[in-house]
Amino acid sequence: MNADPLRKKYARIAGWYDLLDFPWEMLRYRKVRPEVWRRTSGARLILDAGAGTGRNIPYYPPSAHVTGVDLSEAMLVRARRRAATSSAVRLSCGTVLALPFKSRTFDAVVSTFLFCVLPDDLQPPALKELSRVLKPGGRAILLEYQYSRHPWRRAVMKAMSPWVAWAYGARFDRRTPEHLASGGWRILEDRFVSGDTVKVIVAEPGPLGDGRRIQPGVSSGIEHEGGR
Ligand SMILES: C[S@@+](CC[C@H](N)C(=O)[O-])C[C@H]1O[C@@H](n2cnc3c(N)ncnc32)[C@H](O)[C@@H]1O
Repeated sequence: MNADPLRKKYARIAGWYDLLDFPWEMLRYRKVRPEVWRRTSGARLILDAGAGTGRNIPYYPPSAHVTGVDLSEAMLVRARRRAATSSAVRLSCGTVLALPFKSRTFDAVVSTFLFCVLPDDLQPPALKELSRVLKPGGRAILLEYQYSRHPWRRAVMKAMSPWVAWAYGARFDRRTPEHLASGGWRILEDRFVSGDTVKVIVAEPGPLGDGRRIQPGVSSGIEHEGGR
């Protein structure tokens, strides 16, 4: 499971990321991010997987403790500045393929535009790892892209796709819902929140692929593996 190409890619664009994304953030993402975070209502410990430059930080619920994880330390540099004024935000560098947290740690896991970046072969192990760190009854809330069904909009997305793949490593045709289903997740909600291209998926792990059965120790707070 090799995440190195993405680490290198994000090291390269980290300094430009917020600028490159600025038009989309202003026109689209700032309207849809609250849609994601309101679905974490009641969760006390939340994981923001693939936190990037911390674009979600302004939307973190004030009553929750949120831990952001990202593969790229370069992306986290900006996130650390965004998080500087909050004591309820922790950021750590790591991969969703081997999260540095004990099983059953989080009430909810959020990921925004992570699974459109993760190659399809890495998605099943990543989902298994998210299921491992969720507490029983916990949910994952994903914000993801897919191709539009409208011919002209789809054509624009197709035209943009080589650049999107080069810059972000992202694709609009990831098979995340299939990976959720084959990993035994139950999809509770699958709803477009911006046109027919950006959707929120809410899912909970089923009994299959549930790492929580392997390691029964229940933790009351955020504990890193190896006591870190
Ligand atoms: C498109 S950006 C999205 C960032 C942020 N969530 C947002 O909404 O702006 C994707 C992020 O996923 C991170 N990423 C890619 N592969 C990862 C992995 N295996 N584990 C953790 N983070 C990863 C990248 O470093 C990058 O910061």
